[in-house]
Amino acid sequence: MSQAEDIESVDEDGVIESVSGPVVTAADLDARMNDVVYVGDEGLMGEVIEIEGNLTTIQVYEETSGVGPGEPVQNTGEPLSVDLGPGMLDSIYDGVQRPLDVLEEKMGTAFLDRGVDAPGIDLEKKWDFEPEVTEGDTVEPGDVVGVVEETITIDHKVMVPPDYEGGEVTNVESGEYTVEETIVELDNGEEIQMHQEWPVREARPAGEKETPTEPLVTGQRIQDGLFPLAKGGTAAIPGPFGSGKTVTQQQLAKWSDADIVVYIGCGERGNEMTEVIEDFPELPDPQTGNPLMARTCLIANTSNMPVAARESCIYTGITIAEYYRDMGYDVALMADSTSRWAEAMREISSRLEEMPGEEGYPAYLAAALSEFYERAGKFQLINGGEGSISVVGAVSPPGGDFSEPVTQNTLRIVKTFWALDADLAERRHFPAINWNESYSLYKDQLDPWWESNVESDWPEVRQWAVDVLDEEDELQEIVQLVGKDALPEDQQLTLEVARYLREAWLQQNALHDVDTYCEPDKTYRMLQAIKTFSDEAFEALEAGVPVEEIQDVDAAPRLNRMGTAEEWNEFIDEIENDLQEQLRALY
Ligand SMILES: Nc1ncnc2c1ncn2[C@@H]1O[C@H](COP(=O)(O)OP(=O)(O)O)[C@@H](O)[C@H]1O
Ligand SMILES: [Mg+2]
Repeated sequence: MSQAEDIESVDEDGVIESVSGPVVTAADLDARMNDVVYVGDEGLMGEVIEIEGNLTTIQVYEETSGVGPGEPVQNTGEPLSVDLGPGMLDSIYDGVQRPLDVLEEKMGTAFLDRGVDAPGIDLEKKWDFEPEVTEGDTVEPGDVVGVVEETITIDHKVMVPPDYEGGEVTNVESGEYTVEETIVELDNGEEIQMHQEWPVREARPAGEKETPTEPLVTGQRIQDGLFPLAKGGTAAIPGPFGSGKTVTQQQLAKWSDADIVVYIGCGERGNEMTEVIEDFPELPDPQTGNPLMARTCLIANTSNMPVAARESCIYTGITIAEYYRDMGYDVALMADSTSRWAEAMREISSRLEEMPGEEGYPAYLAAALSEFYERAGKFQLINGGEGSISVVGAVSPPGGDFSEPVTQNTLRIVKTFWALDADLAERRHFPAINWNESYSLYKDQLDPWWESNVESDWPEVRQWAVDVLDEEDELQEIVQLVGKDALPEDQQLTLEVARYLREAWLQQNALHDVDTYCEPDKTYRMLQAIKTFSDEAFEALEAGVPVEEIQDVDAAPRLNRMGTAEEWNEFIDEIENDLQEQLRALY
């Protein structure tokens, strides 16, 4: 059945005047900006993006081939919204929240066919509702009225919608309900169901933003150790093709200690998303041992899917993230890649014949990016609680040139910058995050967390590593001119220590069972072990031992096996002992 038959037309139908790819112009349509409309005989879903006199311009979320002038356009009178409620976790959606598995069953194809409508959440499924309010209680917008077990991992908090007035509870009952049934009634006549709609282009209300003080632990040494992201923070991963953007994003989705993960596959190749869709349902959640999908919502709009839905998938994703934030959860959102989103904006803007800005991107590119990242943060909630959204966007600059507009505009906004580097990737140094170019503005505010949860001297040990890597960077220039052997012995030793920092600590193999995840304690211990080597080695050097002999102690190369060591505590103890013994035996 087509959508056009499904919906009640609230206004007079319009008539298609012209079709240009995803952009359709209609005449005589009574519409407001951002209204959702159904276009053509097949009822393809679209959104009003421009109104000029009698002409309405619509971006259509489905392929428009074969759609032509004279066909009708119906207005729903509603803005593009997501349906928020239990059942979103463990789901895979397209850019306008149509579930891909449901659609697949209906259409027998992996991706969407045209004019198919499917609700974002299951309207028939019954959920076991446990009230947390009783009759006579007063509730306000955002307050939790009860809980359903959405998945084995996550309790879904049913909240008074933010646009309600609130009041006294006159009726509430526990039991099995669908998301559309009323579970709580208020004295002012308001009825609360387990689902609520929210327009995707409007941030859900929240209180003040707070300064984030907890890291989003990624389990990746270079990220946690040198360039940490806060829970509620923003990060960008720019890098050329093949440098590791997708692997990095997927590592975050798998290992980061967020309660909820929203993963947006935006405009990248279809097979990458297929991998995610096939992989993720098999993977366990390292925090709970439950399936990873029990805390994950996937949104897929791959390069073979319609371009306008790519523009919307970012908004669909962030709105879903806000809804779980409102429950008090720490949500992490990954978007791979924001460049494809920007390109979708560019394509639509050029079809509208808008005045182009830099490199053909619309003049509002910077504003769109900053509005998106603005929706990240650690928030006080309207119900008095706290919740956070961390946002990590991959950026794919053409040719890996970071001076292009999407990278530059993103850098002005985000506070953590993980710069992927083609040379490192080529040398198979993974993650190929360039430690000279990357930065995190959260470092200082997260130190107290490390000091109390990991080790009190963490800031000093990390600073030591940063200094050694900086020194290596400077020495490299000389080495290139005159060779390593021309350096004084202490500088040669510094290079040796830096090599272990790079190979044993910064490198981490996402494809290795053990090395793929490194808890903060292990990140610290590994670094400490390299520092032990350094301290002992410099003592030996001072006592007159030649640098060649120091480099040759057989405990040193074992540093490179710390990452993959399963019993790492014992393994590192042993290396530290042996290093001490062997280096002291030299003098
Ligand atoms: N952390 C990592 N550990 C091991 N291999 C990696 C890592 N990051 C990237 N790679 C390798 O690089 C390849 C390309 O990475 P990918 O994330 O697909 O790049 P991009 O998304 O930037 O095009 C991967 O298939 C993998 O072989
Ligand atoms: Mg990729």
